[in-house]
Amino acid sequence: MKGISTLLLTFGLMSMLALVSASTKDGKEPRELASRYLSPHFQTYNDSSVQCGEVLNATSGGISYKAFELIEPNERCVWVIRGGNTDGFRVNVLYLGFSYDPNGTQIVASCLRHYFEAYHEILNQTGPEPHLGICNVLMITFATGPNVKDSTGFVLQYEALGGGVVSPRSTDHLISTGEPGIMKYPETPGQYDDNEFSTFVFEPSNNIYSPGKRINLIYLKGLMESHFDYLRVYTFNSTSTELEKWEYKGVINDDNTETELIFNQDLILIEFHSDRNNPGTGFQIVYTTSGVEGCQVQ
Ligand SMILES: *[C@@H]1O[C@H](CO)[C@@H](O)[C@H](O)[C@H]1NC(C)=O
Ligand SMILES: *[C@@H]1O[C@H](CO)[C@@H](O)[C@H](O)[C@H]1NC(C)=O
Ligand SMILES: *[C@@H]1O[C@H](CO)[C@@H](O)[C@H](O)[C@H]1NC(C)=O
Ligand SMILES: *[C@@H]1O[C@H](CO)[C@@H](O)[C@H](O)[C@H]1NC(C)=O
Ligand SMILES: *[C@@H]1O[C@H](CO)[C@@H](O)[C@H](O)[C@H]1NC(C)=O
Repeated sequence: MKGISTLLLTFGLMSMLALVSASTKDGKEPRELASRYLSPHFQTYNDSSVQCGEVLNATSGGISYKAFELIEPNERCVWVIRGGNTDGFRVNVLYLGFSYDPNGTQIVASCLRHYFEAYHEILNQTGPEPHLGICNVLMITFATGPNVKDSTGFVLQYEALGGGVVSPRSTDHLISTGEPGIMKYPETPGQYDDNEFSTFVFEPSNNIYSPGKRINLIYLKGLMESHFDYLRVYTFNSTSTELEKWEYKGVINDDNTETELIFNQDLILIEFHSDRNNPGTGFQIVYTTSGVEGCQVQ
């Protein structure tokens, strides 16, 4: 309860600050912004995030990131919204402080689904986003371009629709690759669960993308049920000429893989899927931003 009231207070304070800073910046917008922002409906949500990336488990909530603050170049913020145990979401974008540019700042809602490949919707305008009705987990990626001028961030609300049947032991992880490390899954020795759908997002150091700097992941086989339990790998390529910057790279399973090197110069998403029986003991992922160029992975 304490956490929630602190957040609500933060929102209240931010709204007042917003009035001040917005009115000094631009004469005609503050009233409109403030009325959106002070919506009593928004303040009744269970959970809300104002920081660059977070895992959210409340059944409804919001994200208000730098709504009244200038954004920086090359920011990478990812929110993974679990929303209890759901099979769909409603999302309403209340405010976008930048104009959509396929080569610059953008915000993407990714619909992550147990057993299926993810799909992605670019949130290029305010209002409801109608295509997120069949997702177990919602991932919001906010990526700013190299040139941000005087742009600000965004505000959105979400609501989980419920009805999810994935394992309640499924978990979500945001992992900074600033320092090298090793991630074991499950974290404590033992078996993962049946019907798990867990997510792992590997982020650049300090949530800032540095062109040319690699993120290297080395998958190390543990024990996953052959064929039926597996990982799906996706990478984000902000310089891609495609509108959609998240790219699907394929599956890793124990049938064909002992170790595997995955690398990218930007965000990496790994999903773990397990079926309804025969759980194994999992896998490990080593992450580092250097030092594997000469390394033979076999
Ligand atoms: C807050 O969370 C509880 C328990 O998850 C849920 O029953 C309730 O509907 C939520 N309230 C709102 C406003 O989302
Ligand atoms: C998220 O919420 C669900 C349903 O309320 C609960 O079963 C699950 O343990 C929670 N997960 C985390 C990581 O808190
Ligand atoms: C984005 O960049 C590509 C390649 O540099 C260019 O062809 C395209 O016109 C740019 N699109 C916009 C909307 O600026
Ligand atoms: C946003 O994208 C949709 C679908 O691609 C398109 O119909 C709409 O015109 C776009 N809106 C803006 C403001 O670019
Ligand atoms: C990103 O996309 C660009 C343009 O499509 C391509 O040249 C580049 O190789 C891609 N980068 C990666 C790491 O896949």
